[in-house]
Amino acid sequence: MGATLKAFVILSVMLWGICGCFGHGGYLYPQFYDKSCPKAPEIVKSVVAKAVAREARMAASLLRLHFHDCFVKGCDASLLLDSSGSIISEKRSNANRNSARGFEVIDEIKSALEKECPLTVSCADILALAARDSTVLAGGPHWEVPLGRRDSRGASLSGSNRNIPAPNSTIQTLITKFKLQGLDTVDLVALSGSHTIGQSRCTSFRQRLYNQTGNGRPDLTLDQGYAAQLRTRCPRSGGDSNLFPLDFVSPTVFDNWYFKNIVASKGLLNSDQVLFTRSEKTMEIVELYAKNNQLFIQHFANSMVKMGNISPLTGSRGEVRKNCRRINSS
Ligand code: HEM
Repeated sequence: MGATLKAFVILSVMLWGICGCFGHGGYLYPQFYDKSCPKAPEIVKSVVAKAVAREARMAASLLRLHFHDCFVKGCDASLLLDSSGSIISEKRSNANRNSARGFEVIDEIKSALEKECPLTVSCADILALAARDSTVLAGGPHWEVPLGRRDSRGASLSGSNRNIPAPNSTIQTLITKFKLQGLDTVDLVALSGSHTIGQSRCTSFRQRLYNQTGNGRPDLTLDQGYAAQLRTRCPRSGGDSNLFPLDFVSPTVFDNWYFKNIVASKGLLNSDQVLFTRSEKTMEIVELYAKNNQLFIQHFANSMVKMGNISPLTGSRGEVRKNCRRINSS
């Protein structure tokens, strides 16, 4: 073999290895359904649009589902499985219980797709498309969604509890949990910007209002006027499910007010505020996004594609479920 040819072969093998395509049949690309189900993206979009028109918050809820899916065994729709047989649903985890929502909308999308092209479009891809469409409907960026994920035949409740960070996480825990998924500090800050839409329950931030470090005092990195307002509907005990906007200025609009609020000490969750107060690196990024919406929007789209690439099942691994809540029987 000539030296040039040899170098070419070695380089090709290396590239295949790096992109993770080796052995299991493929990578994700936006045109995946162009032949097999060309209307798929349109169908997803129209069901999501109807759902968001019914209730603006649904955009936030659907965006969050993709995150909670991808952080557990990769973006494989493991989150959507109900408990049955040996499967223990991830819906029971600390992060999801009484909190994750939008599963009926995913069911509605799936049944529309099963009518159009049976057993073709995976539930994992539905989650990725619905997250993008929700972002756009809320006024955020559009990006091409790489497709071709397949669905898992199992779930991991323990993975859900272990991998999805809690709202009282320290900055180090946040950085580490993202790093374990191949996401860096820019991804962490940009993706946290999802909290520019949606709601949180009182129980997710109560500690900050009354007893941040166990000494009976509130979190002093929280604006005390804002804290007083929050206390009126988030008492020391009771009212666990009372809802509060994650971005009180524009809770249904995808913009950079989330970052402006953090800079003004009005981040709702501890995990939001520590991005500004506990690491110089993340603080600088928060400041940049607070000043520059365009930069945030660009980084967000980029990080969503990165998150959507976490360990997908491709080729003949996994399956395309008929019903997103159950694995296929055979
Ligand atoms: C950085 C670590 C993160 C933590 C600790 C965190 C935690 C939380 C918590 C506690 C809530 C409120 C849940 C409730 O009380 O019911 C929430 C809501 C939400 N999260 Fe996150 N989150 C993080 C990152 C992300 C990421 C990466 C995304 C998306 C890419 C995301 C999207 C959302 C959205 C859109 C909501 C509102 C959902 C709704 O209104 O239904 N979060 N998050």
